[in-house]
Amino acid sequence: MKISFTLNGNAVSVNAEPDAPLLWVLRDELRLTGTKFGCGIAQCGACTVFVNGSTRRSCVTPASSINGGSVTTIEGVNGPEAEAIQAAWEKIDVPQCGYCQSGQVMSAVALLKAKPNPTDEDIDNGMAGNICRCASYVRIRQAIHDAADLASNRREIAADSNVSEATNVGLATASEGASA
Ligand code: FES
Ligand code: FES
Repeated sequence: MKISFTLNGNAVSVNAEPDAPLLWVLRDELRLTGTKFGCGIAQCGACTVFVNGSTRRSCVTPASSINGGSVTTIEGVNGPEAEAIQAAWEKIDVPQCGYCQSGQVMSAVALLKAKPNPTDEDIDNGMAGNICRCASYVRIRQAIHDAADLASNRREIAADSNVSEATNVGLATASEGASA
């Protein structure tokens, strides 16, 4: 079956069995190996991607179900939350072996989008489906708090610069009006 979808912002088409797991389409057909295989039964979160903007376990997602849809993997995730998560992950040096981390990052980005200022409980609930055999959970929790602060600061700076831009435009318009 020909399956066409948007992958990290680009249109792609692949030939795959309708029930082939999306994970293997990404890794074997499209050579995006950042998404990992852990359990294969939707229990560990290593294979987490976004499908149409929501987290999905790609190991149990039939390829046919994404026809016409949109998939984002660790290679393409972007935006203010993703940038803040990446910066916090690097600052705190979250990964140990690293195997689970692309799934952790995808879930953390989704959590931050849904809850910009998550509590410990929010983080524990939001990240519960992502297992780390190196037990990096304490660093993950800290990094998500740091990323929330960072994203909030960036939003404030962006809002301030929008206000100054609007003020400058307003002043320029007023001054043009005065000299006309
Ligand atoms: S490999 Fe998909 S949840 Fe474990
Ligand atoms: S960092 Fe090793 S499994 Fe999570």
